[in-house]
Amino acid sequence: MFKWGTNLPLFYHFIRLFEPHKKLGIFNVFRTFVKFKNPVPTMATIQVQKKASPGSPVLVISTTWKNHTDYGFTKEEVGYLDTYFKDISKKQLSFNSCGRIISILLLDTKKEAHLVLENCRKHGAVVADLVNGLKGKDLNIYNSTKQVSYSYAAAEGAALANYQFIKHKPTAKDQKNTLQHINVVGSGFDAKVLNKLNIVVEATFKARDLVNEPVNRLNATDLANAFKHMGKEAGFKVEVYNKKKITELKMGGLLSVNAGSVDEPTFTIMEYKHKPKNKKPFVLVGKGVVYDTGGLSLKPTPNSMDSMKCDMAGAAAVGAAMYAIAKAKLNVHVIALVPATDNRPGFNAFAPGDIITMMDGSTVEMLNSDAEGRMILADALHFAKRYKPELTIDIATLTGAAMAAIGTSGIVSMGNAPKKYSDKLKVSGNKVFERLAEFPFWDDYAEQMKSDIADQKNLGTSYAGSITAGKFLEKFTDYPYYHLDIAGPAFLAAKDGYRIKGGTGTGVRLFFDFFNSI
Ligand code: BES
Ligand code: ZN
Ligand code: ZN
Repeated sequence: MFKWGTNLPLFYHFIRLFEPHKKLGIFNVFRTFVKFKNPVPTMATIQVQKKASPGSPVLVISTTWKNHTDYGFTKEEVGYLDTYFKDISKKQLSFNSCGRIISILLLDTKKEAHLVLENCRKHGAVVADLVNGLKGKDLNIYNSTKQVSYSYAAAEGAALANYQFIKHKPTAKDQKNTLQHINVVGSGFDAKVLNKLNIVVEATFKARDLVNEPVNRLNATDLANAFKHMGKEAGFKVEVYNKKKITELKMGGLLSVNAGSVDEPTFTIMEYKHKPKNKKPFVLVGKGVVYDTGGLSLKPTPNSMDSMKCDMAGAAAVGAAMYAIAKAKLNVHVIALVPATDNRPGFNAFAPGDIITMMDGSTVEMLNSDAEGRMILADALHFAKRYKPELTIDIATLTGAAMAAIGTSGIVSMGNAPKKYSDKLKVSGNKVFERLAEFPFWDDYAEQMKSDIADQKNLGTSYAGSITAGKFLEKFTDYPYYHLDIAGPAFLAAKDGYRIKGGTGTGVRLFFDFFNSI
């Protein structure tokens, strides 16, 4: 049933089809067909355009609706928009006007700055989807406010929404996104900011690609090789330890998780240093469980094991962050460590009850083989001591408890880092909208991890599971430490705006912003 208001855009599009220039629409259908034959990469470039070409899709960011001749709207379009936005409760409108996407976003700038930016990103994603729906190549973003950051954010949202993982679907080339150029129109843009924006989007895509790749295509060695390639491309050092070296180093935690697997573990060390502002290095540690079956404490398949190719999302985030940091030539010294293996119940898989001697010489009563992330991270955190870090941040899809607590909306965080760093991380988290929900890190939680027969056990009670995991890990550190549990946001069962279904790349934009503002 037609409802005046809600169905207005549809109705408008319908009547426009009967206008004389509808032939243009038919021509577009033909062009679309041609584009089917020439699939383009899904990474669209964000660039400045002084004046946009008339007729291409347009997104206008403003605070109130007012026409501007530059947009190239017809009289009818302006009339329609005037009527629509007379109702001041209306804040956005997107419609297909005879094959051209027109979208208006009115911002409530009284809201907190990071919420306004996120509004722009989300809307950018909506428009990118519409443009791709029509097999369009360009999107022009106008901004009538004085804040160029709104244009950047909308462009970022559009670029991130353009991601696809269809490399294993060769028959579906015609489904490929076509958006190639995201033009921020006007003046006042900073080429350096735009360059960094493109780099961080590209890095996020790299992380998503790694997370989306299943374990039969990406085992621990493949992951390490992917980091080698990224290091070569962006300009950072990559060294990979194999099983022999890992055994020599007595990385008992990593070896115990690997015991049930046919594939060898790897331990990757990445380093980037360029005229650093920091004297002591920052160390990033990423959980690289390329697949988590739970081991002998086997996970059930529906809604549990089936998404566990994502259990190396922390590793992907640190590798891709290094890629972005190096490509943008940031003035920092950062080291990233990735212990990697799959967690399977084969062979000599570690059995609940086993006592494992970790790299630091301490012992762990391993009561649940599904709590494997902390076993491999513990060795990496011990390894990090040799760098005498300014701060070490680990990032891991560590606990279902983190997801149960805050869902997919943010990152569960905790630690003993100086306030200046935890605050800085929270500021970056808000800015890029990978928000940190900081949990308490009180020492009494560590009590739960005490074992009667070993130094620690790897399983706490059924309460505060994310925190007890963090306290377990803290025991392997002797430096300022901050812990990020991304079990919730790392991998989505359904698309959420510019965070597409599957791997999200959570952590890449957070780290990049953090190091960019050091
Ligand atoms: N990889 C999982 C955590 C996870 C859950 C990541 C959901 C992403 C989405 C982790 O290794 C795990 O299984 N943790 C256990 C720990 C428990 C046995 C103490 C968990 O959270 O159930
Ligand atoms: Zn597990
Ligand atoms: Zn896991």
